[in-house]
Amino acid sequence: LLDSKTIDIIKSTVPVLAEHGTAITSRFYQMMFTNHPELLHIFNHVNQKQGKQQQALANTVYAAAQYIDQLETILPAVKQIAHKHRSLGVKAEHYPIVGEHLLLAIKDVLGDAATDEIINAWGEAYGVIADVFISVEQEMYNEAATKPGGWDGFREFTITKKEKESDVITSFYLKPKDGGSLSNFQPGQYITVKAIIDGEAYTHLRQYSLSDAPGGEYYRISVKREDEKEDIPAGIVSNFLHHKVSEGDTIEITAPAGDFVLQTNENRPVVLLSGGVGQTPMISMLKTLASQQPTRVVTYVHAAINSTYHAFHEEIARIASEHENINYFVSYESPTAEDQQAQNYQKDGHIDLPWLQSILKSNEADFYFCGPVLFMKAMNQSLKEWNVPDERIHYEFFGPKGSLEV
Ligand code: HEM
Repeated sequence: LLDSKTIDIIKSTVPVLAEHGTAITSRFYQMMFTNHPELLHIFNHVNQKQGKQQQALANTVYAAAQYIDQLETILPAVKQIAHKHRSLGVKAEHYPIVGEHLLLAIKDVLGDAATDEIINAWGEAYGVIADVFISVEQEMYNEAATKPGGWDGFREFTITKKEKESDVITSFYLKPKDGGSLSNFQPGQYITVKAIIDGEAYTHLRQYSLSDAPGGEYYRISVKREDEKEDIPAGIVSNFLHHKVSEGDTIEITAPAGDFVLQTNENRPVVLLSGGVGQTPMISMLKTLASQQPTRVVTYVHAAINSTYHAFHEEIARIASEHENINYFVSYESPTAEDQQAQNYQKDGHIDLPWLQSILKSNEADFYFCGPVLFMKAMNQSLKEWNVPDERIHYEFFGPKGSLEV
């Protein structure tokens, strides 16, 4: 435990460090990857370039430091990150490397202002924070490895089916290559794919939500092809999966992880809101609701650009038609001429609060949402405006956790 003087130093320097937050974390990554290039096998290079990961790490370290004497208050945030770390294979031995370079970066950016006293206090605080992460993650490793059909680290899977779902989304059906059993998962969880790509110096790891119900003989992921856009390069792993991976090929994945999961101990109505490929965890949740809570009222609302981008329409429409208590709504941001003719959507443009209120009638529901950041901000703002309490709002970011403030 830290003494009160150390705690005082930490708390009083948090604002200073926070002010230089991204400068420090950018410098930190730069120095760490220079000294430990092997870590580039684990980190997402694109997130680094966009600075998203720097921000996420900085925010967490400062939030943790702020609550250094009552770390239990940040435990939910730790768990969410720990799931991701576990899924990526972050281990106890990596923590001292991160700690050392974080202190080096603080010294480097703050210069003389970073006295020995301050650096020592932060070194101690980092150790305390790291221990919390390490112990939470150790438990997660044990659980993943020891549950029936579970495993440790990466396991080889065969692509048994590759299926186009829309112009941009393709599903991959995965079965263990060793012929062994497959662990169950909670709807909403994701796996990490390790992509080993010709001509790339490092492996690329990416998370994908499991897009089918648990309990089957395969896992399914559904991947959006990220094409090059003005300032954003084409997605390395999504294009690899779409263009280079075929049925019969092998890929390596880690066991399911994540805390964005359906609460099946509730019985109040549930609303599943998704934008684009954010639909993947929702399908898993919807199928689970249909089979495990057949009387629960479910509203499935999906926003797509138009029918050419819209995946899983038949799959969802069939489930809705088979269950009286499952309602399905679609909004198209820019419907095609054929869409307008066919009237195969219920809302023209974005999902907004007046429309949600008109289809849902009441805010007495559990809300789950996932999609592009702007979509998530709009959903969050709408639900807040509608006075939905925080504990009934659940969401997941694809990529580094960001802010939903508008
Ligand atoms: C992701 C915090 C230690 C590797 C993250 C995220 C946060 C975070 C906030 C983003 C989570 C999300 O997007 O949901 C921390 C803190 C640490 C720590 C506070 C120390 C106390 C480590 C260590 C490693 C590591 C030791 C391994 C060397 C990663 C990787 C990601 C990640 C690879 C995924 C992000 C990406 O690749 O873009 N961490 N982390 N972290 N962390 Fe850590």
